[in-house]
Amino acid sequence: MTDRFRALVVDKSDTSFSVEIKEMTLDELPPGEVTVRVAWSGVNYKDGLAGIPDGRILETYPLIPGIDLAGTVIHSSDSRFKEGEEVIVASAELGVSHSGGFSEMARIPGDWVIPLPEGLTLKEAMVLGTAGFTAAMSIQRMEENGLKPENGPVLVTGATGGVGSTAVAMLAKRGYTVAAGTGKTDAHDYLRRLGAAEILSREDLTNPQQRPLLKSRWAGAVDPVGGQTLSYLLSTMRFGGTVALSGLAGGAKFTSTVYPFILRGVHLLGIDSAHVSNEYRRKVWHRLATDLKPEGLLDWIGAEEVALDDLPAAMSSILRGGVRGRKLVKLS
Ligand SMILES: NC(=O)c1ccc[n+]([C@@H]2O[C@H](COP(=O)([O-])OP(=O)(O)OC[C@H]3O[C@@H](n4cnc5c(N)ncnc54)[C@H](OP(=O)(O)O)[C@@H]3O)[C@@H](O)[C@H]2O)c1
Repeated sequence: MTDRFRALVVDKSDTSFSVEIKEMTLDELPPGEVTVRVAWSGVNYKDGLAGIPDGRILETYPLIPGIDLAGTVIHSSDSRFKEGEEVIVASAELGVSHSGGFSEMARIPGDWVIPLPEGLTLKEAMVLGTAGFTAAMSIQRMEENGLKPENGPVLVTGATGGVGSTAVAMLAKRGYTVAAGTGKTDAHDYLRRLGAAEILSREDLTNPQQRPLLKSRWAGAVDPVGGQTLSYLLSTMRFGGTVALSGLAGGAKFTSTVYPFILRGVHLLGIDSAHVSNEYRRKVWHRLATDLKPEGLLDWIGAEEVALDDLPAAMSSILRGGVRGRKLVKLS
């Protein structure tokens, strides 16, 4: 086993900020019971924020970002994992306070490690990554709350993004009628291929007069956009409809009234993919490998591969809303 490997390191002081590819040794990795040779990672919105000085994601410096990784165990002092086993890691601390997946090697506490579920390859797992996990968790939570295909159409906002694309494909596979909201006029074919039956523009998803209630349309909504899109959603949900809110790509502030909640029994579910029990995480990954696994996962999404050296550009691109589907990071 070679002791030297490459990683993307973000560093910050009072006067400087840097994002650099560096050669490192295993001694420089944080403590943990499991050492993994990383095969794939993926670029998430949070990783984009990790690459800017005021992104407020990294809790310590220097740090290797990357909130997802998939690879092979090369050493484990935790009896639950064996050398040669394929695993996934995506947890609250990875790539935030503990060095993460933008590295050829990673060392992680055993409690964060999940065996790769049967039905997924390492590459497929990272095409999904935290974005796909968040989409699947949104569907799981809405279904726990009574959502079924026969309840009516489900709207996905930010539909060409990581959470959005994977949500459209998963809902379509489960038999839901899916509407996709997007700001990209050139992405309609892409969204129809994923399974969208209807496409709405960003302007369609507004409520300029801020009416408490508009015509009721949606039985469910996967919303990684938030902001005023969420205001629109709350005013257009059907009786008993459910919004699974996961993001703020369109802003953190929204306006609403109590009416959707008390006159239509609308449910607003917060989705936090980082702070879930290991048991729940495994359950959602099992669904990602079975009933929610999108058809032709490696083809439909484009799954553009990025090398370590091109990562800084990919991290900036996701913050500009310029990513369609997912960007995969190939490490070894
Ligand atoms: N809660 C959690 O656990 C969790 C987990 C993962 C991600 N997230 C959050 O979810 C959000 C999306 O993440 P992602 O990985 O899917 O990012 P992404 O790949 O960049 O997708 C975001 C999409 O939102 C749309 N969008 C961008 N700017 C917008 C604007 N100003 N107004 C309306 N729509 C806009 C774009 O899609 P269109 O062009 O198609 O509209 C964009 O592709 C982020 O806020 C992220 O932090 C949260």
